[in-house]
Amino acid sequence: MRLMRLTREFRDQFSQQEMRTHGRKNGFVTTGQQARMLKWLPKIGLSKDKTLADAQLPDGAPIVMEIGFGNGDFLVHLAQLHPDWLLLGVEIYLPGVAKAMGRLEDAGLIEQCRITQLPAQFVLTRQVQAGQLDGVFINHPDPWPKAKHHKRRIIQKDFAELLVSRLKPGGFIKLASDKADLAEWMRDILDITPGLSNVAGVGGFIDRDADRIETKFEQRGNKAGRISQFLHYIKD
Ligand SMILES: C[S@@+](CC[C@H](N)C(=O)[O-])C[C@H]1O[C@@H](n2cnc3c(N)ncnc32)[C@H](O)[C@@H]1O
Repeated sequence: MRLMRLTREFRDQFSQQEMRTHGRKNGFVTTGQQARMLKWLPKIGLSKDKTLADAQLPDGAPIVMEIGFGNGDFLVHLAQLHPDWLLLGVEIYLPGVAKAMGRLEDAGLIEQCRITQLPAQFVLTRQVQAGQLDGVFINHPDPWPKAKHHKRRIIQKDFAELLVSRLKPGGFIKLASDKADLAEWMRDILDITPGLSNVAGVGGFIDRDADRIETKFEQRGNKAGRISQFLHYIKD
């Protein structure tokens, strides 16, 4: 009964038909996770009727977004490392959102975050203003390896331009991938996106940040013998 209630409520507030996205959205959420979501979403959920400006942001806090946070391990890491940042976490997979909210609550970090299950494309277009973000992280986005599915990859020309428009001058985009062809795909698009500079120089990758944790998908790549690559861009 409660599962149905949460699911319906959640769907109403966090689902949208306007922008087509790919990837799984629904899955099992435990009763305990539902209770936490019902407790926290009214406070820190960025539902589709709100913009980031309505989300009771602390004055002057840098706003940093993570797109596709998965189970939330990197979001917790960022919140611990940067207690002064306001973190906007965006993830379309409901069980990921549930897991991340549990982790953030357990770590006492949830009030530092705004969370949504809406897709990044919707959030950036409708809910974030131009020049509002200090930074964006995208870790191990879905690779969509088949050539006919490359158009589903999140980094595309238009999406890159949207990201740049939402950043403040001097703001950053940091990306990681354990799939070499996807890392090169993202680099090749971002390198020619107007208004962005590749910190490693055109065609380059940066070294792994020493203070970075390994996300679930980085660990998965390591186990399979793949080497992750990292990108860092600054808005001019
Ligand atoms: C391969 S997983 C990586 C998860 C995590 N970042 C990590 O490194 O372990 C990619 C994640 O991006 C999410 N995702 C895909 N498209 C998205 C979109 N348009 N907006 C937000 N999240 C998205 C997926 O649901 C998935 O959880």
